[in-house]
Amino acid sequence: MSITEKYELEGMKAVSEVVGITLKKMHDYTAIGMSTKDLDNYGAEILKSYGANSAPFKAYGFPGCTCISVNSEVAHGIPKTTKILKEGDLVNIDVSAELNEFWSDNGKSFVLGRDINNYLPLVNASKDILLKAINNIKGGIKISDIGFIIEKEAEKKGFKVIKNLAGHGVGRSLHEEPRNILNYRNPLDKEKFKKNSIVAIEIFISNKSDNVIQLNDGWTLVGDRGGFVAQHEHTIMITNNKPLILTEKNQI
Ligand code: CO
Ligand code: CO
Repeated sequence: MSITEKYELEGMKAVSEVVGITLKKMHDYTAIGMSTKDLDNYGAEILKSYGANSAPFKAYGFPGCTCISVNSEVAHGIPKTTKILKEGDLVNIDVSAELNEFWSDNGKSFVLGRDINNYLPLVNASKDILLKAINNIKGGIKISDIGFIIEKEAEKKGFKVIKNLAGHGVGRSLHEEPRNILNYRNPLDKEKFKKNSIVAIEIFISNKSDNVIQLNDGWTLVGDRGGFVAQHEHTIMITNNKPLILTEKNQI
C-alpha cells in the first residue's frame, strides 16, 4: 500500500509493532523439548491480547497462527504437537497479522541452543544481507538493483539465494503489489521502489538449493536440492532516505 493519510501510517505502525513484539517474544520463549504447536499457541495468545488476527489463517486458511519451519523446512511449516525442538535446530518463525484492517509481516531464523550443526554462518548471512538491502532502498531505486545486491552479498559469503520466493508489498492485505521483490537481479523488471509505499523485504539465503518445492501437506516448502535455508524479514516504509523499519521491535 501507499501511505497518503496519517491514520494509515499509524495503523501500519500499530500492527507492525504487534507482529514485531510477537516474533521477539516467541523467539525468546523457544526451548529445547517444546513442540512447534506449543510455540504457536504462545504466539496466538500474544496476537489475541492485542486484538490482532493471524494473517496466514485469515488470508489463506493456514493450519496454524504463525509459520514455524524447522531444519530442512524453508517456510510455511505447520505447527505440530509431534514436532519437538532439539538443541542445534535451525528454527524459522514467521509472524504476520492483521489489526484494524492493516497487515504486517516479519520473520527470522535462529539456532536453538548451541550451534552444534554450524548453521550460524547461514543465519548471520541472511540477517546481515536483509539489513544491507534495506539500507540501500529508497524511492526511485530499481527493485532489481536490490536483488542484485542480495545475490552478490550471498555469493561473497559463500551462499546462494532462493529464486522462487520473494519480498512483497503489504499493508491492505498480506501480499500485494509489488509481488516479486526477488533475491536476485531480474533484468526484465524495470519497476522502482516508490516513496511512502509499504513493502516486506524478505531474504532467503541457501547453502544448496536454488528453489523451493511444496510438500504433499499443501503448505510446507523445502529446498529442491536439500540443504538449509535461513530467512529474515522486515516490513518497511520507503522514504527519500533510509526506510522506516516498522517491525524493528523484532530486534533483527
Ligand atoms: Co512475507
Ligand atoms: Co513473512
